[in-house]
Amino acid sequence: MNRNLQTECPVLVTGGAGYIGSHAVLALRDAGWPVAVLDNLVTGFRFAVPDDVPFYEGDVSDADLVARIVSERGTRAIMHFAGSVVVPESVADPLKYYANNTAASRALIAAAIEAGVPHFIFSSTAATYGVPEISPVSEDAPKVPINPYGWSKLMTERMLADVAAAHPMNYAALRYFNVAGADPQMRSGQSTAGATHLIKVAVEAAAGKRDSVAIFGSDYDTPDGTGVRDYIHVSDLAVAHVLALEALIADPGRSLTMNCGYGRGFSVREVLDTVDRVTGAAITRTLEPRRAGDPASLISDPSRIRATLPWRPQHHDLATIVAHALGWETKLAEMRNAEGDNG
Ligand code: UD1
Repeated sequence: MNRNLQTECPVLVTGGAGYIGSHAVLALRDAGWPVAVLDNLVTGFRFAVPDDVPFYEGDVSDADLVARIVSERGTRAIMHFAGSVVVPESVADPLKYYANNTAASRALIAAAIEAGVPHFIFSSTAATYGVPEISPVSEDAPKVPINPYGWSKLMTERMLADVAAAHPMNYAALRYFNVAGADPQMRSGQSTAGATHLIKVAVEAAAGKRDSVAIFGSDYDTPDGTGVRDYIHVSDLAVAHVLALEALIADPGRSLTMNCGYGRGFSVREVLDTVDRVTGAAITRTLEPRRAGDPASLISDPSRIRATLPWRPQHHDLATIVAHALGWETKLAEMRNAEGDNG
């Protein structure tokens, strides 16, 4: 893309200190986009944001702060990652999810409209589909979430569609499948303690931070009986955001809703086998009952993103995803040891 267009489009990344947001910041910065971060550091980490990126600590629902950032930075696009992402927590505390994901997004979208920001990119999720009847699942499949997390995101998608029809703003809603891995240069990765995602849990076990990995359900109607998911490398996902932004700028009259996945699935056992292969050791596995609300198989139909964006994933090999996740786990342990040594 034309470099002038980039410098004319400063981007505000909310949740830029979090897992996926920090990778988007790196992808934007690597491609020469001016970028600033807004994050309340409740689940994010200050170290995940490069020192040369302007950082604002605060909430996305703080309209005055968002107005100030847009005016100071000349923001022309918002990438909105900030939010809560733990599915079982959303079942136990739905109002937290409707506050942090739906109401906070409404406030941010209102601030964006008020300030005349023309482009908005939203982190949505495959959880908007619920338990799909057909897999691979396409964007037009029924959206019947089975947890408040999925609903909180789907409601925001609906708001964006209505707002884009009424105001001079276009948007991209990107529905992520299972995001994993870490920046290949090890500048960021999944740092949340107590994360429940399979690949994170598995690399923690491989790094000796856990004794074993529980396989939740081995009686699914899948080739080996365990759950199948479409794992996407976080850096490929980050690049998809940059390309989506370019598409929004190129055609301000068009908004986009796209699955972000590779269109192929791996079972829990295949993931654990891959971790074992990458490390040359064997993780201890235990068989547990199915986890409530888990679909047997969730694989994206990536036709739309492939047809719409010049997106060429670089890290789709599962062993690469696992190797990067492991590399980050090692780096995280070193960072935490160094912190401990320094008191
Ligand atoms: C869910 C959400 C997704 C969200 C993610 C992280 C849905 C449809 N998707 O993905 O939007 O981003 O949580 O909050 O709700 N597994 C084990 N042992 C473990 C962990 C997981 O066997 O210790 C299995 C699960 O049963 C599942 C697969 O591994 O079959 C992936 O699970 P996980 O990584 O937790 O992600 P999802 O539940 O697919």
